[in-house]
Amino acid sequence: MAEPILKWAGGKRQLLADITGLFPRTYETYHEPFVGGGAVFFHLEPDAATINDLNTRLTTFYEVVRDHPEELIDENQTHEHAETYYYDARSEFNGIRSGEDLTPTDRIREASLLLYLNRTCFNGLYRENSDGEFNVSFGRYTDPDWVRGREIRAVSRVLQDATIYNTDFGYVREEATAGDLVYFDPPYEPVSKTADFNSYHADGFDRDDQRRLRDVAVELAEQDVAVIVSNSPPVTELYEDHDAFDVTYVEATRAINSDATNRGEVAEVLITSVPSNERRRRTLSDFGA
Ligand SMILES: C[S@@+](CC[C@H](N)C(=O)[O-])C[C@H]1O[C@@H](n2cnc3c(N)ncnc32)[C@H](O)[C@@H]1O
Repeated sequence: MAEPILKWAGGKRQLLADITGLFPRTYETYHEPFVGGGAVFFHLEPDAATINDLNTRLTTFYEVVRDHPEELIDENQTHEHAETYYYDARSEFNGIRSGEDLTPTDRIREASLLLYLNRTCFNGLYRENSDGEFNVSFGRYTDPDWVRGREIRAVSRVLQDATIYNTDFGYVREEATAGDLVYFDPPYEPVSKTADFNSYHADGFDRDDQRRLRDVAVELAEQDVAVIVSNSPPVTELYEDHDAFDVTYVEATRAINSDATNRGEVAEVLITSVPSNERRRRTLSDFGA
């Protein structure tokens, strides 16, 4: 069981047991179209997978970890823990235009800067302004670790079996076939105006996107693909008319919340198409109790 390398808003480490308990006991290929920090993917270590995120810097990072782990670890050793160095590194990172056109060396540099900034920035929160620039200030950590050789090698091994996409989540309609498992963890609708968990990427994820996601989930479930969706409570109404889905409510302690007074238990919903007697974690009612 590998651990995520990056701290990412909406990380699912505290909910791993709840989420994976709803998964089917066996499946062919695993797909995670909103992979973010990848807590569930790295925990599962699937033999065959596709992972995706719209954030190009993030998917480039995973490609570099998969294909060049040793070069990345070497590059990580060049950074320093100092406030002026941090802001220079942030400017350099924002000056790199992420994407396919980068040379291999620039991709390794970008990935290394992302990891360094993620480990040393305030709250470890990836956030972009409306121009798509990473704008988080310096964090006051005493001894942050951004080299992470052991963790990078472990995650690199898991990524060997994954195809990495950098596109809209809709790609999974073409990729998933009967017997596969898809776990969707989209940006959430805020539960209140102050609890804005949607700042992962300069582009928002609105109600129309949530409806589009529901339509893809329904289409996949009809094709015997196992589907699990994490979301916030307001979204359940989109699934109410679809008998294929069951809704479970869980309490989650969110470590990342920009408003300190708002930290605490937030109800989160897990929507699944997997029948209860086929889940990894069965309940007493499955045994006639
Ligand atoms: C809730 S986070 C994923 C959290 C992750 N599962 C974890 O455990 O850390 C949602 C992710 O969806 C990505 N995203 C936003 N809109 C998207 C879209 N239309 N298609 C694919 N990914 C998208 C964001 O960049 C963000 O990384």
